[in-house]
Amino acid sequence: MRSAKRNKVGGASVSRSKLSRGAQGRPNRTRVLRPFVTATFAMTVDGKITTRTFSPVDFTSRKDKLHLFRQRALADAVLIGHSTLKRDNVRLGLPQTDLCKARMKRGQTPYPVRVIVSDKGRIDNHLNIFQSDISPIIIFSTKRMPRKYQRALEKKATLHLSDAEHIDLAVMLHTLRDRYKIRTLACEGGPTLFRSLLERGLVDRLNLTIAPYMFGGAKAPTLAGLSNEFLPASVHCALIDMRVVGEECFLTYRIKRRRRRPS
Ligand SMILES: NC(=O)c1ccc[n+]([C@@H]2O[C@H](COP(=O)([O-])OP(=O)(O)OC[C@H]3O[C@@H](n4cnc5c(N)ncnc54)[C@H](OP(=O)(O)O)[C@@H]3O)[C@@H](O)[C@H]2O)c1
Repeated sequence: MRSAKRNKVGGASVSRSKLSRGAQGRPNRTRVLRPFVTATFAMTVDGKITTRTFSPVDFTSRKDKLHLFRQRALADAVLIGHSTLKRDNVRLGLPQTDLCKARMKRGQTPYPVRVIVSDKGRIDNHLNIFQSDISPIIIFSTKRMPRKYQRALEKKATLHLSDAEHIDLAVMLHTLRDRYKIRTLACEGGPTLFRSLLERGLVDRLNLTIAPYMFGGAKAPTLAGLSNEFLPASVHCALIDMRVVGEECFLTYRIKRRRRRPS
């Protein structure tokens, strides 16, 4: 079984140059804190995280599901992209009461804060997540969110709507740390969101389960989504744990920091 020990990390930093530019347009290099970000995914032997229809597909064991809940339970907040939320219709709770109890023993709230990311903001307030008030829900979106959705969602969640066309994920993480005191964040996908975080160097750890299936097909997304584009730079992962349980392999990687170019 995989360890359920809490990450002994209190946060990570993001270069402020990613957040703002100082006077004279030079990047301000002060480091500001952000949560430590752990992503958890399951993929097939051929690297697919779902089928080409993106429909919810159950290809992992109960052990893997428990692993996902354990990772969720370790974090102060759980992060999800709009498509995964919509397609999987998850509440992002914790089915096992012992996980809630362990959180409280560690001084955490019984359930992690739930964070949703959507540029367009057309999030259906009838989704399951909005029918449970186990923990606060925070939505990061843009002013592109139609007023009708804003009115419905602000009854159930706290909205952060940016003026920009797209959400700045570094700013979002900084807000989570600074305003909500989120020190550890569990990202549960999907691949579009994960890729964006990777591109910005905002992932610290990856838990990856390899399940004994192959789906094939160019139109079924991999961990980094469906984009034909390469990542801006290869992401180097250091293997820190590997366990085989039944026919599944549970891997944990530390995502290595990109070296900053000398200014
Ligand atoms: N096997 C696994 O471990 C695993 C894990 C998670 C998900 N999945 C599967 O992955 C599929 C969904 O994949 P996906 O890539 O479409 O999902 P996704 O990353 O959850 O959602 C993409 C949507 O989230 C919002 N979003 C993502 N990144 C954003 C960013 N940087 N800034 C602003 N908004 C952002 C956008 O929403 P708007 O369109 O509203 O702007 C975007 O269209 C589902 O089939 C799900 O079951 C599998």
